[in-house]
Amino acid sequence: MSQRVTPAAQLRGELRLPGDKSISHRALIFAAIASGETLITGAGDGHDVRSTAGMMVALGASCERLPAAPDDVPGTARWHVRSPGRRALAAQGDGLLDCGNSGTSARLGAGLVAGILGTHILNGDDSLRRRPMTRVLEPLRAMGAAATGAPGARGETAPLRIVGGTLHGTEWRSSTPSAQVKSCVLIAGLAASGSTTYIESVATRDHSERMLTARGANIHREQGGDGNWSIRVQGETELRAIPQVQVPGDPSSAAFWLVAASLHPDADLTIRGVSLNPTRRHVIEILRRMGASIDETPRQDDGSGEPIGDLRVRSADLHGVEISPQDVALAIDEMPILSLAAAMARGETGIRGAGELRAKESDRIAGVADGLTRLGLTVRVDGDDLHFVGGERPRGGRPDVRGDHRLAMTFAVAALVGDGPVEIDGAEAAAVSYPTFFEDAARVADAAQRGASA
Ligand code: S3P
Repeated sequence: MSQRVTPAAQLRGELRLPGDKSISHRALIFAAIASGETLITGAGDGHDVRSTAGMMVALGASCERLPAAPDDVPGTARWHVRSPGRRALAAQGDGLLDCGNSGTSARLGAGLVAGILGTHILNGDDSLRRRPMTRVLEPLRAMGAAATGAPGARGETAPLRIVGGTLHGTEWRSSTPSAQVKSCVLIAGLAASGSTTYIESVATRDHSERMLTARGANIHREQGGDGNWSIRVQGETELRAIPQVQVPGDPSSAAFWLVAASLHPDADLTIRGVSLNPTRRHVIEILRRMGASIDETPRQDDGSGEPIGDLRVRSADLHGVEISPQDVALAIDEMPILSLAAAMARGETGIRGAGELRAKESDRIAGVADGLTRLGLTVRVDGDDLHFVGGERPRGGRPDVRGDHRLAMTFAVAALVGDGPVEIDGAEAAAVSYPTFFEDAARVADAAQRGASA
């Protein structure tokens, strides 16, 4: 599918975003581990979350997608999950689990099936079969699982073959800051004997810790004198089902609008009900460092266990900043859209130590540099660093989305805030995380100025 997005005369209005992708995956997985029933509302309805739901069904849980209620946010899903509990889950049939395009489904799923009897094969699309998986297989092997992958350019990759069974606790120090690896180890740790400790140098997103604690797991998190965080989970734990889970709006989806409105000269957008979890809000802090005008109104806890708020973002005069490897780790999914902000902000920006971007749904360093260059912006890649001269405006063009949802949406925003129309071939990729993105774009942009197809 091709979408033509044209420059917007203005960006105004209110947005309610699909549920956070990371929380939606975890809500389904933890509902499937706990014995009992869970109603999940507001879940992201992208392909990735559906992959996780399919995997839970393939392990013996029931995940029924319910019809939307009148006040549900468009692009969200309601799920009714019923499970006999982790000990009763088992590989069904050929043990094949289809993770689609979703690294989260594969990595968290690997941790889950390592503790479930049977032989499981986790596979997915071409992109997933290029993504590095040794990072999860190694800790699972250290916990006693027979876990192997296919040889790939970056170590083992999917298909993964995991023979689940008896695990023992371990202490695992990750060399890559990754909430997916952490969550894999913690989920496997629930099934292991003894306790399991995961050590990370950067506090990556902590939804697993919050959600597991709320479901009765014994999780202890502390920062050592060396600055590293250790997260310990007590093994052989049965989770308690939470009857109702409300998933808050996805801050990584909000990021597209935070950047769009900051860059557009006539913009005022309010985004309702976004997760402002401290481990997810770093994109707001980076944009504020660049001079963005973002107001936050906290909302009352809606039972999701996440701090939630409304964000109001208005036109601003952004300037360049230095984005450190630590910033990259804390706002990893927002780097493509922040790259557009960097290219347009006054003065230079450097994004340093962004190598992890190469291991996402596409090589996002190459994809961002190539796509933004095709739109007339100057991007220099130096190893794993990106440099922007700044102060430039995107003209129209036809960038290569590379099947990557965050690249598709970044280039669409470049059209909204730029000087010419952008043809987005393969625009359907956006539906991996934000199925209603193009509808939302049409709604907040001035309809009179937009092409009929956007
Ligand atoms: C995710 C963690 C991040 C992120 C991904 C979702 C999660 O990956 O890029 O979109 O839900 O845990 P890494 O933790 O591997 O960087």
